[in-house]
Amino acid sequence: MTTQEEQTRAGLRFPAGFAWGAATSAYQIEGAVAEDGRGASIWDTFTRTPGRILGGHHADVAIDHYHRYREDVALMARLGLSAYRFSVSWPRIQPGGSGPVNSKGLDFYKRLTDELRRHDIDPWLTLYHWDLPQELEDAGGWPNRDTAYRFAEYAAAVHEALKDHVHTFSTVNEPWCAAFLGYASGEHAPGRREPENAIRGAHHLNLAHGLAVQAMNARRVGGCVNLYAITPATGSERDLDAARRIDGLQNRFFLDALLMGRYPEDVLADLSMELDFIEPGDMRTIGAPIDVLLVNYYSRFTVSGEPGGRASAAAAPTDSASPWVGSEHVSFVSGGRPVTAMGWEIDEGGLVEILTRVAREYPPIPMVISENGAAFDDVLVDGRVHDPKRQAYVRAHLAACRQAIDLGVPLEGYFAWSLMDNFEWAWGYGKRFGLVRVDFETQERLLKDSALWYAEIIRQNRRHEPTDS
Ligand code: FCB
Repeated sequence: MTTQEEQTRAGLRFPAGFAWGAATSAYQIEGAVAEDGRGASIWDTFTRTPGRILGGHHADVAIDHYHRYREDVALMARLGLSAYRFSVSWPRIQPGGSGPVNSKGLDFYKRLTDELRRHDIDPWLTLYHWDLPQELEDAGGWPNRDTAYRFAEYAAAVHEALKDHVHTFSTVNEPWCAAFLGYASGEHAPGRREPENAIRGAHHLNLAHGLAVQAMNARRVGGCVNLYAITPATGSERDLDAARRIDGLQNRFFLDALLMGRYPEDVLADLSMELDFIEPGDMRTIGAPIDVLLVNYYSRFTVSGEPGGRASAAAAPTDSASPWVGSEHVSFVSGGRPVTAMGWEIDEGGLVEILTRVAREYPPIPMVISENGAAFDDVLVDGRVHDPKRQAYVRAHLAACRQAIDLGVPLEGYFAWSLMDNFEWAWGYGKRFGLVRVDFETQERLLKDSALWYAEIIRQNRRHEPTDS
């Protein structure tokens, strides 16, 4: 499918200036964990804890991006990307999470962003993609309010050093995951199972976002949320209540905070805990104006509040508790759709649903899809990876983006997750999300069929850029 008419038919023609991107994160790709003064992060510790990562994998080398970034930017250029979303490793910049900056750490991101700009690729910088300096965790981690202030200092330092290299800064990637997988379910680092502290952590992650927005005073700043479409399993009162609760914790807790400076009342009531850690003025800080909302979207949840509900296939890979603080009774059931290798149901309609919802229910805000993609069990055959399912996934979700634009959503870009196969957190190297295959032994990179296809879609769109509307 290459001609312009075919693209139009498939709903894959986008307005001029639409950002064509791919995304990664520091810990998942960089490796070089002990180089140039980098300190330890909670993921270094977590991956060393027996039983926390499938296969006992760690990311000491990961896909060696720290040394191969030039080659990786060249791959991005081959794809024709106009934007690249990456994250900065906090412990490279401040090895212990506070105090003077480590210039060697910053230099890496200067080299990377220079290289991107040389190829006309717009760097989208994320400040925090879950690799908290271990020293800050030792001091209490995200449940400790002080971490939010440390984050604002770190953000200001990164902004100061890179503001001439980077146009768009974003704060915390998926605060839901950082708080609830890190401190309630224990699936992610630091692996604590302390429900109330997860809520504290969530609030302090939001506060960190707001403080950083203020401290950076950046030209263009964004916040990032992972949103799910959510359906009740049936029309029963319990199922409807389950849907309200999960939507509340997953979506509204963060959207309401970032975009309206408040928490939803019903969610606070579900928590039934003392909320004295929300201090006067916090909500105003958290609601500090931003320029763009980064939305990560993967799937739809179908939920039930009926007793004895059975969890769906998309359960955690390792022994962990419920992340759903205050709503632990809710079960996640199959919605009957095809799933990816993660067991995540494929539902591009959910993407249209969440985008139109944000546009309808919140103050106007430009958005980008900052992550979207799928893991499948790729097979290498004669030097090729035929991955029609990934291609179909991206195609369907891009068409959903186009549909959302047609419905009036101010959507300005799409970042595929991920540029390359990488370290998928508790799943280790077992799940491949990349458009680019990586041989984890030799570090060889290879464009999968989906990458070649994506490159063609980008090429067609960018070719017509100047005259598009
Ligand atoms: C998101 C994370 C990203 C990656 C994808 C699959 O939740 O932000 O790092 O793990 O899921």
